Amino acid sequence: MSKQGTVIITGASRGIGAAIAIALADQGYNVACLSRRGELPVVPHASDVALARCTAFTCDVTRGESLQSVFEQVAAMGEPIVGLVNNAGIHLEGLSATFSLNDYETVFSTNTTSVFVSCQHIYPHLVSAGGGLIVNIGSFFDKLGVKRNLAYCASKAAVGAITRCLAVEWAGKGIRVIDVAPGYITTDLNREAMTAGPLREYLGKRIPGREPGTSDDVAKLVKALFVADIPFLSGETIYVDGAQGIAH
Ligand SMILES: NC(=O)c1ccc[n+]([C@@H]2O[C@H](COP(=O)([O-])OP(=O)(O)OC[C@H]3O[C@@H](n4cnc5c(N)ncnc54)[C@H](OP(=O)(O)O)[C@@H]3O)[C@@H](O)[C@H]2O)c1
Repeated sequence: MSKQGTVIITGASRGIGAAIAIALADQGYNVACLSRRGELPVVPHASDVALARCTAFTCDVTRGESLQSVFEQVAAMGEPIVGLVNNAGIHLEGLSATFSLNDYETVFSTNTTSVFVSCQHIYPHLVSAGGGLIVNIGSFFDKLGVKRNLAYCASKAAVGAITRCLAVEWAGKGIRVIDVAPGYITTDLNREAMTAGPLREYLGKRIPGREPGTSDDVAKLVKALFVADIPFLSGETIYVDGAQGIAH
């Protein structure tokens, strides 16, 4: 039996989701790590103890039956399920005039519809546990107008709306829902573009502190939300973007 119960994290094999998984495992949570490849979190500083608290599950969040099956498998492990982090997301971009409906729907099914469906699946478990915390990973693009990013921006704005609606509707069950919205975060996948070239130059001018964030910046915030357990904090979008989203 873990000290804290189980938290389910989507997209926990790499990047921000992997860092969140290890941060919560370090706090004593058991962590169900969902990804299409079903791999354990890849985080350089992960301890053996933390990794031993992580269990990898193969799951495509765009497929309802895949999500349902994994939630059933996690429940069958017998630990109370106390939280969910909806982190899996993709970024597709292109000119709005010609962006395909197929790509638009792929972005929404991964970034937005999966959040709604996962929340529906966890609801009975959190009600049984007497409440719990859902953290949705949004983006500071939710409040910006970004060329070539209509689908991504709209999908993340909808995550904020889902967060607010569920926070209000489920507050009476002790369930809190928070949207954590990162700015530019360096991960293994984008490290090259974030460290040199035109994007790096642009960010050096646009981010007030001149440096993009790290997966650990986001993981520390999500960990703090779980550990601090603040009953009156729900429904908000919390930006972790180095103040880029409010800079003139
Ligand atoms: N990086 C940034 O600068 C940034 C900024 C703002 C917001 N965000 C948001 O933060 C979240 C994580 O981003 P990231 O940069 O860490 O992404 P990433 O490095 O590309 O990792 C994405 C994770 O999600 C999984 N995944 C992708 N599609 C999935 C699906 N259909 N079903 C299940 N798992 C899936 C991937 O594993 P598999 O490929 O094995 O499925 C992987 O574990 C996303 O929601 C993203 O929009 C990122």
